[in-house]
Amino acid sequence: MKETPEITSERKKDHLDVCLNEDAEFQNKNNGFEKYHFEHYAITEVDYSKMDLTTAFLDKEISFPFLISCMTGGVKESITINEKLAEIAEELKIAIGVGSQRQALEDDSYIDSYKAFRKMAPNVPLLGNIGAGEVACSSDIVGMGNRLIDMIEADALVIHFNPLQELFQKEGDTDFTGLLNNIEKLCGRIETPIIAKEVGSGIGKAAAKKLLEAGVKGIDVAGSGGTSWAAVEMIRNKNRNEYFWDWGIPTAECIIGVKKLKKKYKFDLIASGGIKNGIDVAKSLALGSDIVASANVILKHLVINSEEGVIDLIENWFEDVKRIMFLTGCANLNEFKTNKLKRGD
Ligand SMILES: Cc1cc2nc3c(=O)[nH]c(=O)nc-3n(C[C@H](O)[C@H](O)[C@H](O)COP(=O)(O)O)c2cc1C
Repeated sequence: MKETPEITSERKKDHLDVCLNEDAEFQNKNNGFEKYHFEHYAITEVDYSKMDLTTAFLDKEISFPFLISCMTGGVKESITINEKLAEIAEELKIAIGVGSQRQALEDDSYIDSYKAFRKMAPNVPLLGNIGAGEVACSSDIVGMGNRLIDMIEADALVIHFNPLQELFQKEGDTDFTGLLNNIEKLCGRIETPIIAKEVGSGIGKAAAKKLLEAGVKGIDVAGSGGTSWAAVEMIRNKNRNEYFWDWGIPTAECIIGVKKLKKKYKFDLIASGGIKNGIDVAKSLALGSDIVASANVILKHLVINSEEGVIDLIENWFEDVKRIMFLTGCANLNEFKTNKLKRGD
């Protein structure tokens, strides 16, 4: 069946409904952070009142190393959600990503759901988004990349990799032939940085190395432990498969593997996938990531507790990060990244 803009939009609506109302979390696999703990440092000399988590991302200054992950767009319901998420990002001065822009390539009926981001968040790093399937089959990858970036005035373009989700999606795309070749073309011919991202199955070291060789400037590991996109599709199809529901590399493992590539390549390492509290954020940073991102927890919190609720949530997460930095004797993020974590199985 040929995909129409209406089918793409209907699917985005289903995804929102499932993520908000059903339990599409990993069942028997965690994000992996539970295996690590911080070592208390009794003689901390850090002045808690002077701690500052300001950092740079995509050439812009942000108040905390945090990104509201790419979620929705291309459906009526997403306009208000995206406006609110963008307002939160602007208020907190943090980065934000848009949901897949595929629908807007097909027609412009919901273009406002994408444009809402720059309108409400003019000053923060904004990430565009497109799936690996569209990248693989594009015959004009540079033209497509430019259209996506210009549409929302993006500071970077994210390509999301979701082979597991496509495998369990009724209308899924399971032919990715030509993908790396087109990524290489895109990275070579477009100045805006390209970031590679999974959606919950994780980018491991081997995949990350290929992507960095192709020229990407950021890896968002999006590992397992939070939302399972196999589960989302299985719930849509009413057809459960326990083994694949939990398929993927835990987020902590991804960070540790991908971080090793920092010795050879210059890139932003983004930790995401099952980030649910300030301790997960702190462990992500201490394991070596530059930025931390979260998706469904933020969306659910927005729907239940409104914008103020999400602002409080993120501020509290980073208050915990500061407490942990203080108790491990780290005055700044660079010190914190030099691994204060102990593995204790
Ligand atoms: C409602 C919803 C829609 C999403 N749509 C997209 C998308 O369009 N593009 C994308 O790269 N990721 C998308 N994601 C995946 C998230 O960005 C994230 O990688 C994944 O949910 C794992 O993070 P989490 O455990 O914090 O939810 C979506 C997530 C949610 C909850």
